[in-house]
Order: sequence, then C-alpha cells, then structure tokens
Amino acid sequence: MTRYAVIGTPISHSKSPLIHRLFAEQTNQDVQYEAIEVQADDFDSFVTDFFAANGGGLNVTVPHKERAHKIAQLLAPNAKLAGAVNTLYLNKENVLCGDNTDGRGLVRDIQNNHEIQIAGKRVLVIGAGGAVRGALVALIDAKPATLTIVNRTLEKAEQLRLIFEIQLAIETSSFEQLDGEFDLVINGTSLGLSGETPPILASHLSPNACCYDMMYGNEDTAFVAWAKNNGAVKALDGLGMLVEQAAESFLLWRGVRPETEPVISKLRNQ
Ligand code: ATR
Repeated sequence: MTRYAVIGTPISHSKSPLIHRLFAEQTNQDVQYEAIEVQADDFDSFVTDFFAANGGGLNVTVPHKERAHKIAQLLAPNAKLAGAVNTLYLNKENVLCGDNTDGRGLVRDIQNNHEIQIAGKRVLVIGAGGAVRGALVALIDAKPATLTIVNRTLEKAEQLRLIFEIQLAIETSSFEQLDGEFDLVINGTSLGLSGETPPILASHLSPNACCYDMMYGNEDTAFVAWAKNNGAVKALDGLGMLVEQAAESFLLWRGVRPETEPVISKLRNQ
C-alpha cells in the first residue's frame, strides 16, 4: 500500500480522497489517499518527512501551491511558468518533481467530456489570479484563435501576458473596455465564492458561445446561472476539471489514467 495525500488549509471539505479512492478501486491500484491539514510553517518539513517515509505523492492546494513550486527541484515546464505546483512526487533518481495538472484538467474536461474544441475559438479568460495562471499553458497549447484576459486589475492581466505570451498573442482588458464577442468564456475569478458574477455582458457571447466556471457547487454557480440566462449554448461548472486534474496526478504517480466519467457522475449525484 503506497500513501498519497492532499495537503492544504482548510482541507476538510476536499473531495480528492473520494476521487482517488474511486480511481484506485477502478484501476486495482493498492493506494491510500488522505486529506491532511498542513499549516504554512510546517509545509517544508511535512513534505520532506512524507517522502522520507516512502510516500508516493502529494497534491498541494491552497495556500501552498507557490511554496510547492519553490521547493520542487525539477519543475514541469508548465508548472515553471505557472509559478504554482499542485502535484509532487519523487522520480527514479529521488529528485522532488513538481507539476501542475490544473490546466490539463481544465482542457480535458472542456474538450473530452463536453466535446468543445478549443482550437480556432475566440477564448475569453476572466480573472488573473492563481487559478488562471495554472490554466494558461494548457489553454494556449489547445490553439485558440485568440486569447483575451479580462481582469478588474488590468496590471495583473498584463503581467500574465508578459509571462505566457510565447506561441500566441494575448489580449488584455479591463471590464469597462472589453470589446468583441467570444466563443468560449472561462471564469477563473473567485467572485463565485460570494455568489457574484464578473461584470461581462451578454453581447460578449457569440451566438454559439460556451461558458465554463472553474468553480463548482451542488447548485448552479452564479456564473453558470448567468450564462444560462444570457444565451450561452453550454453553461458548465468545474466539477469535471477537479476530477480531470486528479486523474492527471494519478497518471503521473501510477502510470495509469483512470476513467473519469463514472467518477464525475458519482460526484454529481451525491
Ligand atoms: P485564485 O488563486 O483563486 O485565482 P486570487 O489569486 O486571489 O485567487 O485571484 C482572484 C481573482 O478574482 C482575481 O482575478 C481577482 O481580480 P483582481 O486581480 O483585480 O483582484 C478576481 N476578483 C476577486 N474579487 C473580485 C471582484 N469583487 N470583482 C472583480 N474581480 C474580482
């Protein structure tokens, strides 16, 4: 039995132990996965001790993703750019490796589960915080026609443009100056936590627009409700992203990619 865990604070609400238990059952892997509350001051020693005791891998969540990025000795290129790590493991040479599976999870959910092709689409990303940073490399790799980042604080969008504008020109805008219409609109702000929606207009949605909220909830999130009321053809929440990023971590650790669809269904019906 190999031990895995997600560490963060707060952590008691985490669905990751259930997701990984379902993955392990489905793929017949002998793993144990728990959620462990770890405070910032204890983070480095916890990680060191966990791997010294033959731990198989860690997921890292709020507020430790930036610290995990700092202590990883070998970073996947996307994690390096994102400045954040959500998956830690030791490679064969016992080097602590850091990856970020959030963006791959987002893109897989959009493209594989919801059958929305990103290639050639005009994509609007709302927000410029950690959630968006973690997603941009994978979104750019999916080859949208255009990528626009709109954020309350324009400078933060500008900073992301400078970091991520490698293969694709990135537009940035404030909400007030946002112009044009978009085929895929992804909400990466934390506004949903207070039941609010970002101030974008129905006129920013193209006739076939799909909206995606990186957050999820038992009820429609505020942004999903907004999208349904404002003519989006699809209004999707981030539950699938959660399961897909977990599957990407499981793949890194175990070399097997679990089926995500039954796990998403199970969580949806809980
Ligand atoms: P996370 O790591 O979850 O992305 P974050 O780094 O604090 O959290 O980023 C939160 C995002 O939500 C930011 O884009 C933030 O906009 P600012 O960069 O201008 O702060 C956005 N956000 C939070 N509250 C907001 C509000 N009331 N109106 C508009 N945007 C808001």
